[in-house]
Amino acid sequence: MIKIAVLVSGNGSNLQALIDANLSGQIVGVISNKPEAYALERAKKANIATAVIEHKQYPNREAFDDVMHQQLLDWEVDLVILAGFMRILSEKFVKAWEGKMINIHPSLLPNYKGMHTHQRVLNTGDRLHGCTVHYVTAELDAGQALAQGVLQVGIHDDAVSLASRVHVLEHLIYPQVAEWICNGTVIYTDQGVLFKEQPLLEPIQFCKF
Ligand code: GRF
Repeated sequence: MIKIAVLVSGNGSNLQALIDANLSGQIVGVISNKPEAYALERAKKANIATAVIEHKQYPNREAFDDVMHQQLLDWEVDLVILAGFMRILSEKFVKAWEGKMINIHPSLLPNYKGMHTHQRVLNTGDRLHGCTVHYVTAELDAGQALAQGVLQVGIHDDAVSLASRVHVLEHLIYPQVAEWICNGTVIYTDQGVLFKEQPLLEPIQFCKF
Protein backbone atom coordinates (compact mmCIF):
# COMPACT_ATOMS: atom_id res chain seq x y z
CA MET A 1 0.00 0.00 0.00
CA ILE A 2 1.27 3.44 -0.97
CA LYS A 3 2.19 5.64 1.99
CA ILE A 4 1.21 9.27 1.64
CA ALA A 5 2.30 12.43 3.44
CA VAL A 6 0.32 15.65 3.03
CA LEU A 7 2.09 19.00 3.44
CA VAL A 8 -0.09 21.90 4.58
CA SER A 9 0.07 25.46 5.86
CA GLY A 10 -3.54 26.43 6.46
CA ASN A 11 -7.16 25.37 6.54
CA GLY A 12 -6.66 21.97 4.99
CA SER A 13 -9.95 21.53 3.16
CA ASN A 14 -8.08 19.59 0.49
CA LEU A 15 -6.53 17.42 3.20
CA GLN A 16 -10.07 16.77 4.46
CA ALA A 17 -11.22 15.76 0.98
CA LEU A 18 -8.28 13.34 0.76
CA ILE A 19 -9.08 11.88 4.19
CA ASP A 20 -12.79 11.53 3.33
CA ALA A 21 -12.00 9.80 0.04
CA ASN A 22 -10.76 6.64 1.79
CA LEU A 23 -7.91 6.27 -0.67
CA SER A 24 -6.44 2.86 -1.34
CA GLY A 25 -3.15 4.39 -0.14
CA GLN A 26 -2.65 5.38 3.49
CA ILE A 27 -2.09 8.93 4.72
CA VAL A 28 0.67 8.23 7.24
CA GLY A 29 1.46 11.81 8.22
CA VAL A 30 0.74 15.50 7.84
CA ILE A 31 3.48 18.12 8.01
CA SER A 32 2.72 21.79 8.62
CA ASN A 33 5.16 24.68 8.63
CA LYS A 34 2.63 26.60 10.75
CA PRO A 35 1.70 25.40 14.24
CA GLU A 36 -1.70 27.15 14.08
CA ALA A 37 -2.80 25.50 10.80
CA TYR A 38 -6.34 24.11 11.17
CA ALA A 39 -5.26 21.25 8.91
CA LEU A 40 -3.40 19.80 11.93
CA GLU A 41 -6.71 19.48 13.82
CA ARG A 42 -8.24 17.67 10.87
CA ALA A 43 -5.32 15.22 10.84
CA LYS A 44 -5.54 14.60 14.59
CA LYS A 45 -9.30 13.94 14.34
CA ALA A 46 -8.53 11.33 11.70
CA ASN A 47 -5.79 9.75 13.87
CA ILE A 48 -3.06 10.73 11.44
CA ALA A 49 0.43 11.54 12.75
CA THR A 50 1.39 15.20 12.55
CA ALA A 51 4.68 17.07 12.52
CA VAL A 52 5.13 20.82 12.86
CA ILE A 53 8.32 21.97 11.19
CA GLU A 54 8.48 25.74 11.43
CA HIS A 55 10.49 27.27 8.63
CA LYS A 56 11.29 30.29 10.81
CA GLN A 57 13.41 28.10 13.06
CA TYR A 58 15.90 27.24 10.33
CA PRO A 59 18.64 29.45 8.90
CA ASN A 60 17.72 28.81 5.27
CA ARG A 61 15.39 26.96 2.91
CA GLU A 62 17.74 23.97 2.52
CA ALA A 63 18.01 23.38 6.27
CA PHE A 64 14.21 23.47 6.61
CA ASP A 65 13.75 21.14 3.63
CA ASP A 66 16.32 18.69 5.03
CA VAL A 67 14.27 18.28 8.21
CA MET A 68 11.09 17.70 6.18
CA HIS A 69 12.95 15.24 3.98
CA GLN A 70 14.09 13.27 7.01
CA GLN A 71 10.54 13.18 8.42
CA LEU A 72 9.24 11.84 5.11
CA LEU A 73 11.93 9.15 5.12
CA ASP A 74 11.08 8.24 8.72
CA TRP A 75 7.46 7.76 7.67
CA GLU A 76 8.63 5.74 4.62
CA VAL A 77 6.56 7.93 2.34
CA ASP A 78 5.98 7.00 -1.32
CA LEU A 79 3.86 10.00 -2.33
CA VAL A 80 3.98 13.61 -1.13
CA ILE A 81 0.82 15.66 -1.62
CA LEU A 82 1.09 19.43 -1.29
CA ALA A 83 -2.26 20.78 -0.13
CA GLY A 84 -2.05 24.51 0.43
CA PHE A 85 1.61 24.30 1.45
CA MET A 86 2.82 27.89 1.18
CA ARG A 87 6.59 27.47 0.97
CA ILE A 88 8.76 27.28 -2.10
CA LEU A 89 10.81 24.07 -2.00
CA SER A 90 14.54 23.88 -2.70
CA GLU A 91 15.78 22.27 -5.89
CA LYS A 92 17.50 19.53 -3.89
CA PHE A 93 14.26 18.58 -2.10
CA VAL A 94 12.23 18.65 -5.30
CA LYS A 95 14.81 16.46 -7.08
CA ALA A 96 14.74 13.96 -4.22
CA TRP A 97 10.94 13.60 -4.59
CA GLU A 98 10.73 13.92 -8.37
CA GLY A 99 7.83 11.90 -9.73
CA LYS A 100 6.58 11.34 -6.18
CA MET A 101 5.22 14.77 -5.32
CA ILE A 102 2.07 16.49 -6.58
CA ASN A 103 0.49 19.89 -6.04
CA ILE A 104 -2.85 21.52 -6.73
CA HIS A 105 -2.87 25.04 -8.09
CA PRO A 106 -5.96 27.27 -8.42
CA SER A 107 -5.72 28.06 -12.13
CA LEU A 108 -5.70 26.35 -15.49
CA LEU A 109 -1.94 25.99 -15.81
CA PRO A 110 0.15 27.08 -17.64
CA ASN A 111 -2.01 30.20 -17.17
CA TYR A 112 -1.64 32.17 -13.95
CA LYS A 113 1.26 30.59 -12.13
CA GLY A 114 1.86 32.09 -8.69
CA MET A 115 -0.53 34.01 -6.43
CA HIS A 116 -3.89 35.84 -6.67
CA THR A 117 -5.06 33.71 -9.57
CA HIS A 118 -8.79 34.46 -9.21
CA GLN A 119 -8.37 38.23 -9.39
CA ARG A 120 -5.97 37.93 -12.31
CA VAL A 121 -8.51 35.80 -14.21
CA LEU A 122 -11.17 38.47 -13.60
CA ASN A 123 -8.81 41.27 -14.62
CA THR A 124 -8.09 39.54 -17.92
CA GLY A 125 -11.75 38.74 -18.54
CA ASP A 126 -11.23 35.00 -19.10
CA ARG A 127 -14.43 32.96 -19.46
CA LEU A 128 -12.85 29.73 -18.19
CA HIS A 129 -11.02 29.13 -14.92
CA GLY A 130 -10.29 26.20 -12.63
CA CYS A 131 -7.56 24.22 -10.96
CA THR A 132 -4.71 21.93 -11.97
CA VAL A 133 -3.09 18.93 -10.31
CA HIS A 134 0.51 18.61 -11.43
CA TYR A 135 3.78 16.94 -10.58
CA VAL A 136 6.15 19.25 -8.75
CA THR A 137 9.34 20.33 -10.47
CA ALA A 138 11.94 22.90 -9.47
CA GLU A 139 10.25 25.54 -11.64
CA LEU A 140 7.18 26.92 -9.82
CA ASP A 141 3.81 25.52 -11.01
CA ALA A 142 5.43 24.07 -14.14
CA GLY A 143 5.50 20.26 -13.76
CA GLN A 144 3.41 17.94 -15.93
CA ALA A 145 -0.31 18.50 -15.43
CA LEU A 146 -2.32 15.37 -14.58
CA ALA A 147 -5.85 16.73 -14.29
CA GLN A 148 -7.78 19.97 -14.51
CA GLY A 149 -11.13 21.04 -13.13
CA VAL A 150 -12.72 23.63 -15.40
CA LEU A 151 -15.53 26.07 -14.68
CA GLN A 152 -17.14 28.95 -16.50
CA VAL A 153 -16.65 32.40 -14.99
CA GLY A 154 -20.09 33.95 -14.38
CA ILE A 155 -20.90 37.62 -14.85
CA HIS A 156 -21.52 37.95 -11.11
CA ASP A 157 -18.35 36.17 -10.01
CA ASP A 158 -15.78 38.00 -7.91
CA ALA A 159 -12.50 36.72 -6.49
CA VAL A 160 -14.25 35.33 -3.39
CA SER A 161 -16.93 33.41 -5.28
CA LEU A 162 -14.35 32.09 -7.74
CA ALA A 163 -12.14 30.89 -4.90
CA SER A 164 -15.01 28.94 -3.37
CA ARG A 165 -16.18 27.53 -6.72
CA VAL A 166 -12.62 26.44 -7.54
CA HIS A 167 -12.33 24.82 -4.11
CA VAL A 168 -15.32 22.58 -4.91
CA LEU A 169 -13.50 21.40 -8.01
CA GLU A 170 -10.25 20.91 -6.09
CA HIS A 171 -12.01 18.61 -3.63
CA LEU A 172 -13.28 16.58 -6.56
CA ILE A 173 -10.13 16.20 -8.64
CA TYR A 174 -7.38 15.98 -6.00
CA PRO A 175 -8.63 12.77 -4.34
CA GLN A 176 -9.31 11.32 -7.79
CA VAL A 177 -5.73 11.93 -8.96
CA ALA A 178 -4.32 10.66 -5.66
CA GLU A 179 -6.35 7.48 -6.07
CA TRP A 180 -5.11 7.06 -9.65
CA ILE A 181 -1.55 7.18 -8.35
CA CYS A 182 -2.33 4.81 -5.46
CA ASN A 183 -3.94 2.21 -7.72
CA GLY A 184 -1.44 2.47 -10.59
CA THR A 185 -3.76 4.17 -13.11
CA VAL A 186 -1.21 7.03 -13.23
CA ILE A 187 2.45 6.00 -13.36
CA TYR A 188 5.41 8.38 -13.50
CA THR A 189 8.30 7.24 -15.69
CA ASP A 190 11.46 9.02 -16.82
CA GLN A 191 9.94 9.02 -20.33
CA GLY A 192 6.72 10.71 -19.20
CA VAL A 193 3.50 10.01 -17.36
CA LEU A 194 1.35 7.01 -18.22
CA PHE A 195 -2.43 7.01 -17.76
CA LYS A 196 -3.99 3.56 -18.09
CA GLU A 197 -0.67 2.40 -19.61
CA GLN A 198 -0.80 5.06 -22.37
CA PRO A 199 1.25 8.27 -22.50
CA LEU A 200 -0.69 11.13 -20.90
CA LEU A 201 -0.46 13.92 -23.46
CA GLU A 202 -3.08 16.29 -22.03
CA PRO A 203 -4.38 16.65 -18.47
CA ILE A 204 -7.63 14.77 -17.80
CA GLN A 205 -10.42 17.36 -17.71
CA PHE A 206 -13.33 17.60 -15.32
CA CYS A 207 -15.85 20.29 -16.29
CA LYS A 208 -18.44 22.04 -14.13
CA PHE A 209 -20.50 24.74 -15.80
C1 GRF B 1 -6.11 25.75 -2.46
O1 GRF B 1 -6.83 26.74 -3.12
C2 GRF B 1 -5.01 25.25 -3.36
O2 GRF B 1 -5.28 25.40 -4.71
C3 GRF B 1 -3.85 26.13 -3.01
O3 GRF B 1 -4.00 26.39 -1.64
C4 GRF B 1 -5.37 26.27 -1.26
C5 GRF B 1 -5.44 25.34 -0.09
O4 GRF B 1 -6.70 25.31 0.52
N1 GRF B 1 -2.62 25.47 -3.37
P1 GRF B 1 -6.96 24.30 1.72
O5 GRF B 1 -5.95 24.60 2.82
O6 GRF B 1 -6.80 22.91 1.22
O7 GRF B 1 -8.35 24.58 2.18
